Amino acid sequence: ADADDTAVDRFPFAELTAPADATIHVAEGHDAQVLVRWGDPVLPDAPAFDPHAQSPEAQARQFGYNNDFIGVIPLPEHDPARRALLVVNHEYTNEELMFPGIGAQTAKTGFPDMTRARVDIEMAAHGGSVLEIARMDGRWQVVAGSPHARRITAETPMALTGPAAGSRWLVTSADPHGRTVKGMLNNCSGGVTPWGTWLSCEENINSYFSGTRDGLADAEALKRYAIPGNATAWARYHDRFDLQKEPNEPNRFGWVVEIDPLDPSAPPKKRTALGRMKHEGAAGLTNGDGRYVVYLGDDQKMEHVYRFVSRAKVDPSDRAANRDLLDAGTLSVAVFHGDGSGEWRDLVFGQGPLTPANGFADQAQVLVHARLAATHLGATRMDRPEDVEANPKTNKVYVMLTANDTRTEMEVEPANPRAKNIHGHILEITPAGGDHAARAFTWDVLVRCGDPAKAEGGAVFSPATTAFGWFGNPDNCAVDHQGRLWIATDGNTPRATDRTDGLFALETEGPARGTAKRLVSVPIGAELCGPFFTADDTTLFVAVQHPGESQDGRVSSFDAPSTRWPDFAPDMPPRPSVVAITRKGGGPVGS
Ligand code: FEO
Ligand code: CA
Ligand code: CA
Ligand code: CA
Repeated sequence: ADADDTAVDRFPFAELTAPADATIHVAEGHDAQVLVRWGDPVLPDAPAFDPHAQSPEAQARQFGYNNDFIGVIPLPEHDPARRALLVVNHEYTNEELMFPGIGAQTAKTGFPDMTRARVDIEMAAHGGSVLEIARMDGRWQVVAGSPHARRITAETPMALTGPAAGSRWLVTSADPHGRTVKGMLNNCSGGVTPWGTWLSCEENINSYFSGTRDGLADAEALKRYAIPGNATAWARYHDRFDLQKEPNEPNRFGWVVEIDPLDPSAPPKKRTALGRMKHEGAAGLTNGDGRYVVYLGDDQKMEHVYRFVSRAKVDPSDRAANRDLLDAGTLSVAVFHGDGSGEWRDLVFGQGPLTPANGFADQAQVLVHARLAATHLGATRMDRPEDVEANPKTNKVYVMLTANDTRTEMEVEPANPRAKNIHGHILEITPAGGDHAARAFTWDVLVRCGDPAKAEGGAVFSPATTAFGWFGNPDNCAVDHQGRLWIATDGNTPRATDRTDGLFALETEGPARGTAKRLVSVPIGAELCGPFFTADDTTLFVAVQHPGESQDGRVSSFDAPSTRWPDFAPDMPPRPSVVAITRKGGGPVGS
C-alpha cells in the first residue's frame, strides 16, 4: 500500500452539508447547545433582559454584546472538563440590532437617535464577562451566584503597566500620571496563559474616537492608526473620546490586557511591553527554554505580524511568580523573505533605525507607535493578520491572513501571493531549531482560500477538499489537544462564497495536508469566533458573533432582522451567544 492508503484520517466525522440559513448547524453526531446569550444575567443582581427597555445599569450586570474570544480557565480543585471559569470578550456593538426603531445609519452622522442612555448601554455592553460554568448530566450551564462572576466594561478602572506606563504619551487630564485608564475597547481575540490568566486584545480602537487629527502633534501616528474613526457617538457625551479635548486618550487603547479571573477585585492590566496596534489575538506557549512567547497579529490591511518573548521564565509551580511576567521582554516584527526564509527584528529603542533621528524618543514611544517602528525595521506588509497560533506538538505556527482587496499586482510577493486577495490565505511558520525565541524561521503557504473550483480565483486546497469543505476568510484558529488545526471564518456570505461562516478542520500533516472539512455553520450575518476546546476535547465552545448583521446588500435591523436566532421569538432580536458543541455519546469533538 502507498502512503495514501495507510494515512490516518484525523477528521473522520461526517462533513456538514447544511445550507446557508438563519440558524446554527453542526455535523451529524454532534449537539450544539446555547450556553449564554447577550442580556443573560452575569452578576447576581442582574435584572431580566428586556431589549425594549434596556438600561446601562442592567447591561453592566448582564452578558455583553458580540462575544468574540472564549477561554476556559481552571478553578483550583475542580476538573476543568466539568467545572471552570469561562472568560469571554465583548468586541463591539450593533446599534441597528440592539435598539428598536433606531432609524437608518448615514455615513455622515451615523445613527440619528443615539441618546446618552444608548451610548452608555453600548459602553456597558463592551469589555468582557467571567462566568462560572459546570457540566451536569452532560449539559453545560452557567453557575448562578458564583463569587467569580464579573463584568468588565468600557468604564472599568485598569492599570497601564510595563515600559510605556507613566510616559508622556499616556497622560490625560483625568490621569496626569499615565498609569490608569477607564475600560477596554473592541476586545477581539485573546489567549489563556499557563498561569491561569486571560489575555484580551484591543483591536479596532480607532472607531470610538471623534474629531480631527489636523494640527495635532501626533498627526502622523494617528493617521497610521486610522484615528479618528468617527464611527460611534461616544464623544458626544464623553469628552475623553474627543481628540480635540484629549489627544492622548487613543494611546491608552490598542493593548493586550491581562485579567486574573481568580481575583475579581484585581484591576485588569494593559501590558504595554506587547506593543500598541489593532491586536487580534495573543495566543502563546512556553518555549523550550522556559520563556513565554506570544504571537500577535495586527489586523489591518498591510500591517504586520509580531512576536513577544518574555525576559523571565514561566514558573509552573508558583502562580504569583508569573504575575508580571509580561511586563518585560522583547517585541519583534516578522520579515518574510521571498525565498521561504524569514526573520524577527526587534523593536528596541536605540537599536538600528529606532533612534531620535527617526523620531523615537524612548522605548515608550517605540511601543506606543509600534507600527511606525515596524516600518523602519522593514517589516513585511501582510494581508490583514488575524489569529496566530502555535501547535505545541509540532512547533509550527499558523498565521491567518483574512483578506486584502487593495493589494495590487505590483505589491504581490511570495508570502502575500495574490493581488486583490478577497478570501485570504494561511501561512505556516517553522521556527529555526523548534525555538520560538530564535531570530530565524522558514515559512510556507498552507492554503490559499476561496473556491478551488474557480480557477480565476487562484484558491488552493488539497484535492480531497469537497465543495462543502473549502472556506474563505480565515480569522480565528485553534489547535486541539490532539494537535489538530481548526479554522473559524469571518466574511463568508451566500453572495460571496455560497455559504455562511463556520468552523473547519484543516489537516496540516501527511498526504492529506491542505484538506479542509466543515464542522459548524453559523446563522446568516454571523461570524464564528473564539473556538476553544476543553482539555479533554469533549467540548468545543464557539462564539456566534453579530448574528443577523446586514450583508449582501440586505439591511437588517432590530425591527426587521435577517434572523432571530437563537430565540426565534417575534419580539426578540438576534442575540450573540456562546454555544457548547459536544459529541453525541461522548468522545472528542470532530472525531
Ligand atoms: Fe475583530 Fe480581526 O477581528
Ligand atoms: Ca469580530
Ligand atoms: Ca477576529
Ligand atoms: Ca475578522
